[in-house]
Amino acid sequence: MDHILLLHLHLVIAALMAAASSFHSCEAAAVSKGSFEDNFSIMWSENHFTTSQDGQTWFLSLDKETGCGFQTKQRYRFGWFSMKLKLVGGDSAGVVTAYYMCTENGAGPERDELDFEFLGNRTGEPYLIQTNVYKNGTGGREMRHVLWFDPTQDYHSYSILWNEHQIVFFVDKVPIRVFKNNGKANNFFPNEKPMYLFSSIWNADDWATRGGLEKTNWKLGPFVSSYKDFSVDGCLWEDPFPACVSTTTKNWWDQYDAWHLSDDQNKDYAWVKRNLVIYDYCDDSERYPTLPEECSLSPWD
Ligand SMILES: *[C@@H]1O[C@H](CO)[C@@H](O)[C@H](O)[C@H]1NC(C)=O
Ligand SMILES: *[C@@H]1O[C@H](CO)[C@@H](O)[C@H](O)[C@H]1NC(C)=O
Ligand SMILES: *[C@@H]1O[C@H](CO)[C@@H](O)[C@H](O)[C@H]1NC(C)=O
Repeated sequence: MDHILLLHLHLVIAALMAAASSFHSCEAAAVSKGSFEDNFSIMWSENHFTTSQDGQTWFLSLDKETGCGFQTKQRYRFGWFSMKLKLVGGDSAGVVTAYYMCTENGAGPERDELDFEFLGNRTGEPYLIQTNVYKNGTGGREMRHVLWFDPTQDYHSYSILWNEHQIVFFVDKVPIRVFKNNGKANNFFPNEKPMYLFSSIWNADDWATRGGLEKTNWKLGPFVSSYKDFSVDGCLWEDPFPACVSTTTKNWWDQYDAWHLSDDQNKDYAWVKRNLVIYDYCDDSERYPTLPEECSLSPWD
């Protein structure tokens, strides 16, 4: 994605230095509720970023000059990653809030990435939520959903479950997307490299809303998205002993029950598939005359 490229060029050096200086072993991270500074760094535009007085809620703003973004200081491999977001309300056409995990601070040709992107809209028109999965620099695995609530009215949680068997995107407790592994070496399932978690707000009126037809109305800015309750229950990756291997851990997110959906989750997921999916690359045979390999894997297994 272009935005990542733009954002991170000047931070690559910082990331390299951070990677080089950390020397601990891998351990399961406790659920975290510290201050912003404990776990995050601002990627760019510090002055577009504010926190509530108690430090527990964060606000990212976008104006004609720039948006802004933050990232975790740590990287993780596998686990449960969750955050509550309240999106820009009113006329938010053109505005995109991205919330994603990525192996690097840039749009490098070999990155892995798991994306949630919230595509704003004109007042009263529905937000779309776009998800995507990249492996070794290749994405093109978009899905788009409408939501069953207005994501600008309240905080809702957006979470990713990631283990060797599946990646599940959740909205509140509802699985909206299931991305399966096939248990073999492949070119679609990101599982080797640890990822940071990022979020940012930016202008994407060249493509986001009705394919770029709806432009951002700058008179209404600044546009603000809000965040709270970040939690990670996952494996913190620390060099030079990057364990984070399934068989060495005893964590719920890496156990049999987390390798597939539960019966209740299956019902919710079936409901989502019937009612909320706007686009699925696996159904797009014009774009993919030969459907990608992972499209044949059943989400119900
Ligand atoms: C957040 O930062 C604290 C302090 O550095 C650390 O102990 C904790 O493991 C971090 N939490 C996560 C989820 O990385
Ligand atoms: C990842 O992609 C690069 C090209 O961008 C390729 O040279 C490399 O072999 C790929 N790695 C794997 C493990 O497939
Ligand atoms: C915005 O609203 C229009 C009209 O309801 C809809 O077609 C579109 O899918 C919505 N979302 C985006 C991101 O364009």
